[in-house]
Amino acid sequence: MTVESVRPGTSETPLREPPVAGGGVPLLGHGWKLVRDPLAFLGQLRDHGDVVRLKLGPKTVYAVTTPALTGTVALSPDYIIAGPLWESLESLLGKEGVATANGPLHRRQRRTIQPAFKLDAIPAYGPIMAEESYAVVERWRSGEVLDVTAESFRVAVRIAARCLMRGGYMDARADRICTDLATLFSGMYQRMVVPLGPLYKVPLPANREFNRALADLHVLVDEIVADRRASGQKPDDLLTALLEAKDENGDPIGEQEIHDQVIAILTPGSETVGATVMSLLLVLTEHPELGDKIREEVKTVVGDRPVAFEDVRKLTYTANVVTETLRLYPAVWILTRRAVTDTELGGYRIPEGADLIYSPYAVQRDGRSYERHEEFDPDRWLPERSGDVPKYAMSPFSVGNRKCPSDHFSMAELTLLTAVIASAHRFEHAGGSDPRPRIGITLRPRRLMLRALPR
Ligand code: HEM
Repeated sequence: MTVESVRPGTSETPLREPPVAGGGVPLLGHGWKLVRDPLAFLGQLRDHGDVVRLKLGPKTVYAVTTPALTGTVALSPDYIIAGPLWESLESLLGKEGVATANGPLHRRQRRTIQPAFKLDAIPAYGPIMAEESYAVVERWRSGEVLDVTAESFRVAVRIAARCLMRGGYMDARADRICTDLATLFSGMYQRMVVPLGPLYKVPLPANREFNRALADLHVLVDEIVADRRASGQKPDDLLTALLEAKDENGDPIGEQEIHDQVIAILTPGSETVGATVMSLLLVLTEHPELGDKIREEVKTVVGDRPVAFEDVRKLTYTANVVTETLRLYPAVWILTRRAVTDTELGGYRIPEGADLIYSPYAVQRDGRSYERHEEFDPDRWLPERSGDVPKYAMSPFSVGNRKCPSDHFSMAELTLLTAVIASAHRFEHAGGSDPRPRIGITLRPRRLMLRALPR
């Protein structure tokens, strides 16, 4: 570890160069550790400093390790969305979608989509969320072994697509979107960890399949937009917000932008919720007592009728199980930013153009922020205890101008789904289940094969 003083800062204290994390090897630097066991590697970086330099091949990346400084980065205008994670996503999300745009374009896009996600818009999605949740438990009644990856992503896509682009025409199309996204997500993961560039253009079966799914997704989105226009209907949802949106000059936004936005919202929405549903099912399998308590809560709050969206805010224990799942298994486990100016972070110098990374996974599992930090304890989110958690030590949806627009939507959806599932079934692992973490664009269990046992 080295700490050098490089130049006087603007204040009396000189800005220092952050220490270099230990454990690098010649040529590869810390890259091999990030590939071999990223969760363990990121989890111990705080021992080396609040900000540490990592060598990834010839490149220097700045890792931010404390809750307070990750909050500073997320809230500061000195950093924009860029860096390796986003570059790997651009082939799918485009450069102009809300998830990847920066500056005034991003601000306008956020203003456009925000109404579809605001608190008072969400109850209108309730009946769809409930219908899809009950459809899931019905599908699982047969007692057959469930391939939980497919099942979790299916329900995530169906809820996002049917809520945000409402219409009868969505029902059949939601399954097609689901098949396409499954192919695209696994292909993108491969492209991120094994960035072989031109090799992905070779017409091998896997590449052809990836390109076919990408093309079909684009066709589907165009069909959905055309059908909505032809229907003449304007339900209060995301698609209406996009079709009615105006640009800086007061003109309707272009067809391409509408198209890109639908993809840029549907894709992260489905991938993150799908991964979280998998983690929730793992938690219910490994801690059956949590499922029993959720069932008790549902009985007390709801009685014998089906759970409705209006019940969600009273299902506090269930919501705490969801929150604790997001703490220990944050779907978005790593975030990247780029400094747009020479700046200072925690007394360290960050040069213009520097790439930064930080890990909600590492921050949310840090023993300095949480007692019994590895333990699954939903009660740590009780009002009398949650105040002990340091600021920004629990930000699975991030904070600041890039905060997930869908935090309320997602919490409502996941709480309702968990209440319905845990009331109907218990789970046990079947052959071939492998709950170890799979580290891709999102974090989720590798492969879950579960048997749903009726209650
Ligand atoms: C468990 C569920 C979810 C989690 C944990 C999650 C997490 C996140 C996080 C951490 C970010 C910030 C990324 C950054 O700071 O670089 C983000 C952004 C975003 N999320 Fe989510 N998300 C979830 C669900 C959804 C859903 C359901 C949708 C839409 C249907 C959605 C749409 C988006 C969009 C469009 C952005 C980009 C926002 C911007 O850059 O302004 N997310 N999400």
